Amino acid sequence: MTERLTLAIAGLGTVGAETVRLLAAHRDLYAARSGAMLDVTCVSARDRTKDRGVALDSYDWQDDPVACADKADIVVELMGGDSGPAYDLVKAALTNGKSVVTANKALIAKHGAELAELAEKHGAILRFEAAVAGGIPIIDAITHGLSANRFTSLAGILNGTANYILTTMDKEGRDFDDVLAEAQAKGYAEADPTFDIDGIDAAHKLAILTSLAFGCTPDFAAIHIEGIRSITRRDSAYAKELGYVVKLLGITEQTADSGIRQRVHPCLVAADSPIARIDGAFNAVQCFGNAIGRVLLEGPGAGAGPTASAVISDILQVARGNRTPAFMQPATACKAATPASMDSLQTRYYLRLSVLDQPGVLAEITRIFAEHGISVQSLIQHDADANRPADIVMTTHETQESSMQQAVQTIARMQAICDQPQLIRIEPV
Ligand SMILES: NC(=O)c1ccc[n+]([C@@H]2O[C@H](COP(=O)([O-])OP(=O)(O)OC[C@H]3O[C@@H](n4cnc5c(N)ncnc54)[C@H](OP(=O)(O)O)[C@@H]3O)[C@@H](O)[C@H]2O)c1
Repeated sequence: MTERLTLAIAGLGTVGAETVRLLAAHRDLYAARSGAMLDVTCVSARDRTKDRGVALDSYDWQDDPVACADKADIVVELMGGDSGPAYDLVKAALTNGKSVVTANKALIAKHGAELAELAEKHGAILRFEAAVAGGIPIIDAITHGLSANRFTSLAGILNGTANYILTTMDKEGRDFDDVLAEAQAKGYAEADPTFDIDGIDAAHKLAILTSLAFGCTPDFAAIHIEGIRSITRRDSAYAKELGYVVKLLGITEQTADSGIRQRVHPCLVAADSPIARIDGAFNAVQCFGNAIGRVLLEGPGAGAGPTASAVISDILQVARGNRTPAFMQPATACKAATPASMDSLQTRYYLRLSVLDQPGVLAEITRIFAEHGISVQSLIQHDADANRPADIVMTTHETQESSMQQAVQTIARMQAICDQPQLIRIEPV
């Protein structure tokens, strides 16, 4: 006999409304796949009068989303935010022994350890597939399909807005501000794009991926974060000339001394690498496992359909009684990782300098590099206009981050350097 499970959905925006619509439209299919009739019984949002394109009349409406915590078998949190009603609702539901599905990366990145422990203590299930890379089933892949592997690193394009901007700058030779303004006008970027373009949203997702891959508690504060505001169309063009593409990557890796280094920053990746071909608003996550080698999953990282797809897959897993712990191993077994510093990172670098065309400038830059043990791999210097600063673009052989940063600080103080040097790491993904 098919079981009946009730759902309370708090948050009826882009993701919530589509989740309600899909659940109603495909009720029989989901029942066949999960063994349970899934019935939404209770909903909540701020504005009761808003037309959301779905029929809500038959559901119990709650003005206070936290009241949904004991109104159904499964509580679905789709409001967002790492505190306030989202946190209060999830905590209250888990304490009531109700299973929770959420798409909220900020919440899980910040409170994931506490919430996972709470779920286990009260015999509830906590799932958040949609919180990382939207429609791509990356959490399911790590916790099930790839669970035989020890991971060495994961690298991903984790923010579709940033990737859309960088792709457009690259393909159309346009400036960052111009592309961002167009993305905002078309609704691809938020009015306040800070989280997307300053790397914060990608870092929330990276904190979750790190926990899953390395069995540690999420540690958002340990992530080195740089966004894409400083990338210029000149950088895109020089990258292309050198055989690279600029991407905002989130990278988590186990270091030789068993530390975990987490970083989000623009990277140059080889133009013929699989991750370089992830264009527009798409996301991708590349995992390196000891047994499988490299796996790349790509797909839509946001949007109503893809995100609701991930939310409903979690609901179906709960309905099936899948009790895989939220972070693959029991919350009590997840300990804080030892963060590895950026200073010890070994990689290659792209450096763009805007310099006055004076004799001896290049010799001085080379001398500073030599003083820090940095060797140059390639150099681009186009003919300079006598009255305007000219770009010198260099790539280095592998070197240590601390040496590179010290060298760049010294170079930046040279009288002939006209602008802030542009340093971008070259990632061998
Ligand atoms: N959109 C995506 O593509 C995407 C992708 C991956 C993950 N996510 C995550 O999914 C979650 C929802 O995102 P979304 O894009 O659907 O957001 P959204 O369109 O802004 O919708 C948020 C919903 O939450 C409701 N809400 C907000 N604060 C509330 C409060 N204090 N009390 C009651 N209801 C409240 C809003 O009510 P009103 O409608 O009445 O204002 C709205 O229905 C977020 O955690 C987000 O990070 C979204």
